[in-house]
Amino acid sequence: VSLGLDLLDRFDHLIRDLGYENRSEAVRDLIRRKLVESEWEAPDAETFASVSVVYNHHTGQVLEKLNSLQHDSYAQVISTLHVHIDHDNCLEVVVLKGQATELKDLAEQMIALKGVKYGDITMGTTGAHVS
Ligand code: NI
Repeated sequence: VSLGLDLLDRFDHLIRDLGYENRSEAVRDLIRRKLVESEWEAPDAETFASVSVVYNHHTGQVLEKLNSLQHDSYAQVISTLHVHIDHDNCLEVVVLKGQATELKDLAEQMIALKGVKYGDITMGTTGAHVS
């Protein structure tokens, strides 16, 4: 791998700040990240994801709709963590397993529900192809 000294110097500073002990592990992590991203581009690849949503449980039917969406896709929903943040707000973290396209679709439906103030999906991996 050929790199300019400036680029390498900036990279070394960055990975030191991030807590990497050496450049090799940082480079391996970058490669794995790109491989996981490419897994997510393959429509039928099985993978994992976590979806986080923050919502006001008093708003509309958000609690019921979120519950229905998860029951409609029970085969993909591995686990759900519900946190009562305060009197009004809830955080739900949903771990999903299945085909990337299905997981993205389900996550988008949850995030788009009326009453959901914030939502995000984190792409995961089975870990099998990023050793
Ligand atoms: Ni709650």
